[in-house]
Formats: sequence, C-alpha cells, structure tokens
Amino acid sequence: MTDGGEVRLRPVVEADLEMFRRFLTEPFLLGLDWAGFKDAQQPARRFAQDGYLGEENGRLIVDVQGQACGLVSYLQGLYGGMAKYWEIGIALLPEWRGKGIGWRAQALLTDYLFSHSPAQRVQAGTHAENAAEQTSLVKAGFQFEGVVRACEFRAGAWRDGYLYSRLRDDPAPAVTPLPSHAAV
Ligand SMILES: CC(C)(COP(=O)(O)OP(=O)(O)OC[C@H]1O[C@@H](n2cnc3c(N)ncnc32)[C@H](O)[C@@H]1OP(=O)(O)O)[C@@H](O)C(=O)NCCC(=O)NCCS
Repeated sequence: MTDGGEVRLRPVVEADLEMFRRFLTEPFLLGLDWAGFKDAQQPARRFAQDGYLGEENGRLIVDVQGQACGLVSYLQGLYGGMAKYWEIGIALLPEWRGKGIGWRAQALLTDYLFSHSPAQRVQAGTHAENAAEQTSLVKAGFQFEGVVRACEFRAGAWRDGYLYSRLRDDPAPAVTPLPSHAAV
C-alpha cells in the first residue's frame, strides 16, 4: 500500500492477457456487461495480431503505480457516412473500483483520442442502473444525451441504454493525481 498515485494508460503487454481471459470467463467480473462465456483464447490471438492497437478499435491498460487495474477500449463509428467518432468503454477489476480511477482513466482516454485523431465526438453508453459509470462519465467531462431505447440484449431482455458524449470543444476536467487516502 502506498499513498495515492497517478492514473496512466499504457499499451497492453502479454502479462495483461490473463486479466482479459478472466473478464471472458468469470461471470460478472465485467459487471453488467457480462454476456456469457466467451473464447478465452481470443485475447492471445488479438494480441499477436496488433497488440490491441488497431486503427478502428483497441484497448489500453489502466495502470496505477505499475499495477494493472483494468482496461479502457475504443471503437470507431461513423455518422452520416463521413463523421468518424469514437465509442469508449471501461472495466476495472473490483478491487480498484470506487477510488476515483474510473473517471480519470476515461478523461485520459478521451484526451488521447482527441489528440491523435481529428474526431469531433467521443461517446459512451451505459446502463440505467450503473450509477458509478454515469457519475464517472460526467466527472470525465461527458454530458448526458438521452436514452437509446432497447439497444442491447442483456440478462434475458432487451434493455435501454444511456448515451453520453464529450465533444472536442467541451471543457476537459483536470486529471489530478489520486487523493492520498486512495490506497493503491
Ligand atoms: C464503472 C467504473 C468504471 C467506475 O469507475 P470507478 O473508479 O469505480 O468510479 P469513480 O471512482 O470514477 O467514481 C465516480 C463517481 O461515482 C461514484 N460511485 C462509485 N461507485 C458507485 C456506486 N457503486 N454507486 C453509486 N455511485 C458510485 C463515486 O462516488 C464517484 O463520485 P464522487 O467522486 O462524487 O464520489 C468501475 O466501477 C467499473 O469498472 N465497474 C465495472 C465495469 C463497468 O460497469 N463498466 C462500465 C460499463 S458501461
């Protein structure tokens, strides 16, 4: 245990693949996005292909003082045939939740995407019951846009999603170090 620390994002390394396999095979480790057992060999194949740094989608590791806390993801979308945007996602391991890491990681990822691509818009979807992610997105500078009706099939039913976005010119929060009481 140490006092606080910086949240940073880094590329995936081979040692992170075990965490990805756990998210695919341990029910609900991923949270509400758990969608049943998936191929545990897939992370090794994807890592060999491009290190999870694809042009249109990829992942980075959320790291605090050298410890892998979870992952963030990005996926390119297209509005009106010409306006490329990014959709981001996040999953932290349970022991790293509720410490202020999630909003910082999503703010850093959004800054990174705006720095390295001309996209005007980064969006994120979450669930009505995911209060932590809703607050986390707002703290990361996102605004609530509305309810996307029946956009996902989850836990036996079609369910609504909550859509958030941050535009290039929206105010970006200052990503301060974690508070010193956040044990890492
Ligand atoms: C959702 C998630 C990324 C949020 O990250 P986090 O580090 O746990 O949350 P943060 O520390 O950034 O907290 C953001 C805010 O939400 C609040 N919050 C945290 N957990 C909460 C909970 N279980 N219920 C209600 N509010 C909560 C915090 O109090 C904080 O607000 P505050 O700073 O005003 O106190 C993380 O909990 C996670 O990985 N969960 C499982 C996967 C998941 O749900 N991913 C998103 C799928 S859409």
